[in-house]
Amino acid sequence: MPGDKSVSHRALMLSALAVGPAVVSNLLESEDVHRTAAALRALGVPIARNDDGTWRIDGVGVGGLAEPDDVLDLGNSGTSTRLLLGILAGHVLTVFMTGDASLRKRPMARVVDPLTRMGAQFVARSRARLPLAVTGATSPMPLSYRLPVPSAQVKSAILLAGLSAPGRTTVIEPEVTRDHTERMLRLLGATVTVEAEEDGARAITVEGQPELSARDLDVPGDPSSAAFPAVAAAILPGSHLVMRRVGANASRLGLFTTLREMGADIRISGEREVSGEPVMDIEVHGGRLQGIEVPPERAPLTIDEYPILAVAAATASGTTVMRGLAELRVKESDRLAAIETGLAACGVTVSSGPDWLEVTGCGGRAPGGGLIAANLDHRIAMAFLVLGMAADAAVTVDDAASIATSFPDFVATMNAVGGRLGLTESVP
Ligand code: S3P
Repeated sequence: MPGDKSVSHRALMLSALAVGPAVVSNLLESEDVHRTAAALRALGVPIARNDDGTWRIDGVGVGGLAEPDDVLDLGNSGTSTRLLLGILAGHVLTVFMTGDASLRKRPMARVVDPLTRMGAQFVARSRARLPLAVTGATSPMPLSYRLPVPSAQVKSAILLAGLSAPGRTTVIEPEVTRDHTERMLRLLGATVTVEAEEDGARAITVEGQPELSARDLDVPGDPSSAAFPAVAAAILPGSHLVMRRVGANASRLGLFTTLREMGADIRISGEREVSGEPVMDIEVHGGRLQGIEVPPERAPLTIDEYPILAVAAATASGTTVMRGLAELRVKESDRLAAIETGLAACGVTVSSGPDWLEVTGCGGRAPGGGLIAANLDHRIAMAFLVLGMAADAAVTVDDAASIATSFPDFVATMNAVGGRLGLTESVP
């Protein structure tokens, strides 16, 4: 499996903020991660790809970034944008940012508001969308902030800004979100503590102004990419697939828990650790799935996997109900709308509300035959191509270019395990 996208962004950013050289292995070489690398280079960080495929970053230390002489174009990448805004909030620089048509629609107020309270200044168009400009705080202030939305990007932005502030910056998260930033900060020498609040929320605190020491890092395989071949294998009877060294961080495993509850034969083994992150081997045997109710508290642990979970649900027997999905409306596309329209175009019974989705499975192969608008959303494109593998008539995605943002070898990987994905001249 290709390197984890979330961990790859953080490996580049945190190595840039550490002191000294670091070599990163198994970095995801996708468009989103290239955007982070290019932005950091523009901010004065030497980053090079070695001949053996590893990456070398010469860290400049917290506070050591330089002002870029042009706009940073973050492409499709929300993680690059929001985490860099956190880092830049603590640097006395002015930086202009933009992105593609999808990223320019995504809400940035969720980071702009807390970072403003820490002393950063922003100029943005209405409702804090890109393009925007940030001027970092001269004297950043520590903050204690309760997340209004469950978002690892917002949590990370605040913790990264807190690196530049004196004293302790705390983020309170009522629901667990991925903790890759906290783990990597600790690995590089920052003090990060987690305490339980009375209401069960977690308070994550970083001590400001640490000296981060550069360290070689190894990136686990991406469980959110493994999700696509895993579901393909799980819904195609007779399949047998093994994926090794996939990230096993509990905050990322909601899909695998749900697939097992739906009756999938998924075995986990070989649990071990690389660079402060757990990894595992996954073995999937294909069979028949059963529709279930997926609890809302599983949403943050499954957040990127609902498009492919909906595809699994479309081939199951019975109805699957997924709740707590409001955040899907502000991902790379409005994923609830994309899933509903796409499944309906493939002959699957589906309905949705503001934060829920209900899919009535076909008890096996779906009719298929739909033409899917990917809307610059890699996970919509990949999910519907997997549906095509389990459909009577081919499923066509209008533009698969976005797949390169997270899983550039997706088509080759799926074809290597028996898929028949290819470019088509004729569309339905
Ligand atoms: C990510 C956090 C999640 C996720 C995204 C990557 C990260 O976004 O959907 O793909 O690397 O922190 P939110 O923070 O918006 O939930």
